[in-house]
Amino acid sequence: MAAILATAVRNNATNGITGFLLYNGRNFLQMIEGQQAELIVLMNRLARDRRHHGMVRLYDRPTQQRACPEWAMERLWLADDPAERRDAVEAILPGALEPEIRQMVVNFSRLN
Ligand SMILES: Cc1cc2nc3c(=O)[nH]c(=O)nc-3n(C[C@H](O)[C@H](O)[C@H](O)COP(=O)(O)O)c2cc1C
Repeated sequence: MAAILATAVRNNATNGITGFLLYNGRNFLQMIEGQQAELIVLMNRLARDRRHHGMVRLYDRPTQQRACPEWAMERLWLADDPAERRDAVEAILPGALEPEIRQMVVNFSRLN
């Protein structure tokens, strides 16, 4: 995770991409936002990365503003106690996040 995040932050800062990443020990959930051309390039790199597989695109829409302009790639930590995860993740998600994405993150955070 440390290596992934270091690369992501370095590249994303250069390419104008922002977002966040969750990992539950089994799956990643990542949100990326930026200019379409940069996102396509990144998605192609991610799809070729052998550290993960079975990549699924859950949500892909144009937006007027970024939800997390300050996060070159922020790891959002899941609370150890599953019962606390919903509130904990809600508390750290940016207010400007699309409700559908928010719901996906909350649902993901509760998977074991
Ligand atoms: C779960 C996951 C998330 C990643 N997220 C990013 C990302 O946001 N930005 C990025 O540039 N690379 C990300 N990577 C790494 C890319 O797949 C790829 O290894 C990297 O962009 C290559 O960059 P480099 O040529 O500078 O080493 C991620 C990899 C994994 C496994």
